Amino acid sequence: MSFICVNDYEVYSKNVLPKNALDYYKSGACSQLTLRLNIDAFQRLRIRPRIMIDISNRDCSATVLGYKIKYPIGVSPTAMQKMAHPEGECANARAVGAFGSIFTLSTLSTSSIEEVAKAAPNTNKWFQLYIYKDRDVTREMVLRAEKAGFKALVLTVDASVFGTRYADVRNKFHLPAHLRLANFEGLKSNKINHAEQNSGLTEYVNKLFDSSLSWKDIKWLKDITKLPLVLKGILTPEDAIIAADLGVAAILVSNHGARQLDTVPASIEALPEIATAVGNRCEIYLDGGIRYGTDVFKALALGAKMVFVGRPAVWGLTHSGEEGVTNVLNILGREFDETLALTGCKSVSDIKKSMVVHESTYSKL
Ligand code: LAC
Repeated sequence: MSFICVNDYEVYSKNVLPKNALDYYKSGACSQLTLRLNIDAFQRLRIRPRIMIDISNRDCSATVLGYKIKYPIGVSPTAMQKMAHPEGECANARAVGAFGSIFTLSTLSTSSIEEVAKAAPNTNKWFQLYIYKDRDVTREMVLRAEKAGFKALVLTVDASVFGTRYADVRNKFHLPAHLRLANFEGLKSNKINHAEQNSGLTEYVNKLFDSSLSWKDIKWLKDITKLPLVLKGILTPEDAIIAADLGVAAILVSNHGARQLDTVPASIEALPEIATAVGNRCEIYLDGGIRYGTDVFKALALGAKMVFVGRPAVWGLTHSGEEGVTNVLNILGREFDETLALTGCKSVSDIKKSMVVHESTYSKL
């Protein structure tokens, strides 16, 4: 079989991954309506291309938090990547570096902050943060990420409790015995013991994450780090405005891969009103449902500076580690470049909002 689109890697992964891991990676919360919507909503948008523009010299690059990236397509945090491939997060981060974009490491990774920093020294790496009830754990994690050269903190703000994924409940999902949540091995504050690590993920999250998290904690976080802060999991203009008022560097419009609250809008549906409300006050990114280069174009047209992919990178990793992730990213990069060409855009700055409309614009005719 030749692998020519992101879907090929997904189909392959669904055939080879053990059930416990596959169900964890692929599931959305409850009825999985939002999981389907994340994909479908992109298909309901139409691109209005312009023609007869000299696009012979094209540039797919973007600038994000002051860093130039070759493509506006990065990798979102996903937990426990060694279930997909023995080299897990290290292989993923290396692939993203070669692609010239941004890799986000999950707090709940199976390779540690330091291992990933060593494996991918030239990759622009961001660190996804969960806030633990024990603030020493969080503080230590932030300082380690800083020391290891990570360039931004991506605070997850949509997981005050853990969403219910039915398949995981049925499987009693847990990390396979040979793997560890690597960032907690040798933690100085040593507050998270092995029994807690080995419990099911939902129990782990609900026991250890701080469900009292609120806007005042943004100030706490800004006081302990100089790293730019990205808030991941915003779906309304109301919250986006509060975030911008608090001076965060960026917001990531996301529904957590549809794994938290079911029936929330697709990320791409939530984006336009957030972009209008925020304007240029902070950068805006999007994840959720990106499977084609045209999806990247649509997100940029509707106000995102870049997009992130979670599951597609995991499917690439499952197939062939670093090489698989590289292939998946190159497919998306190539398709995005093709979309730029066929819409008459020489660079991301040529992408205009008017170039993407909802399908109803046409069905009304
Ligand atoms: C999840 C958490 C770990 O979605 O972010 O499973």
